[in-house]
Amino acid sequence: MNNTFYRGRRLRRTPALRDLVRETEIRPQDLIQPYFVVETDDPEFSQPISSMPGQAQYSLNKLQERVAQAVDLGLRALILFGIPKEKDPKGSQAYADTGIVQEAVRRLKARWPELVVITDVCMCEFTSHGHCGILENQYVQNDITLDYLAKTALSHARAGADMVAPSDMMDGRIQAIREALDKKGFEELPIMSYAVKSASSFYGPFREAAESAPAFGDRKSYQMDPANLRQAMCEAQADLDEGADILMVKPALPYLDVLRRIRDGFDVPTAAYQVSGEYSMIKAGAQMGWIDEQKIVMESLTSIKRAGADLIITYFAENVLRWMA
Ligand code: PBG
Repeated sequence: MNNTFYRGRRLRRTPALRDLVRETEIRPQDLIQPYFVVETDDPEFSQPISSMPGQAQYSLNKLQERVAQAVDLGLRALILFGIPKEKDPKGSQAYADTGIVQEAVRRLKARWPELVVITDVCMCEFTSHGHCGILENQYVQNDITLDYLAKTALSHARAGADMVAPSDMMDGRIQAIREALDKKGFEELPIMSYAVKSASSFYGPFREAAESAPAFGDRKSYQMDPANLRQAMCEAQADLDEGADILMVKPALPYLDVLRRIRDGFDVPTAAYQVSGEYSMIKAGAQMGWIDEQKIVMESLTSIKRAGADLIITYFAENVLRWMA
């Protein structure tokens, strides 16, 4: 009998054959590990984040210890989130030159000049009300906030950050930040824009980790409606036009279609953020013994890559490096 059907199994027969034809691979250098650094008088401070097993808030010292281990494993890039001692309505610790993120950047860059240190640029961890911008009449004011974001990005640049990543979702922020950086001689500092950031419930555990839950209301007047794909293209186009170097889609796994559209629609590098809720769900399932953590993580990250991510921010980065070693 003559076979007329497709025999896909021919190339799946052995591990070596499968390896030969594999189309997508996670590379250690694609991974960015997030860290939470706390401004505290206790140099030994380290507090596990209950909803994110394996992740913790660290003092500067403890952060440095943790990063040292990660660098030994081969970590090349990280993104920093800061938790200040004092919060106020204008989030002044976000742009203070002595702020916790700025201190952490200086520390890490002094110790590891080659490490790519990225900073999250946003107000929500620094404002007493937990919103990502400046409030007036209980409403986040777009244009007023731009100055604050630009100041924040500039202070990160001065501290020695290798890249800034605005996550606030104000309109015009990339332009404001680009202008501020260029004016002060940071024209070669790249901006990774959280361009397509949905108002997602998957950020729940992060808000415990970063102590950044809004005191009232939600973020829906600035973050995107998860239902919108065409609008995602508009957001990405706008950020690119304003000077973004990398476009990010966030969350990742529930938004693979968005990721693919962005990858196909724009020729700049695309980043995906596997967010806290994605992490916590996998951790919870694994702790229950219902799923195999390592296999599920690798499959998820491979899917994110396959859908178009060039780089991936993931709380599993350190673990992946460990598994790949
Ligand atoms: C700050 C910010 C958030 C995340 C990254 N930057 C939280 C939010 O928008 O509420 C979420 C990251 C995660 O869930 O892992 N605006």
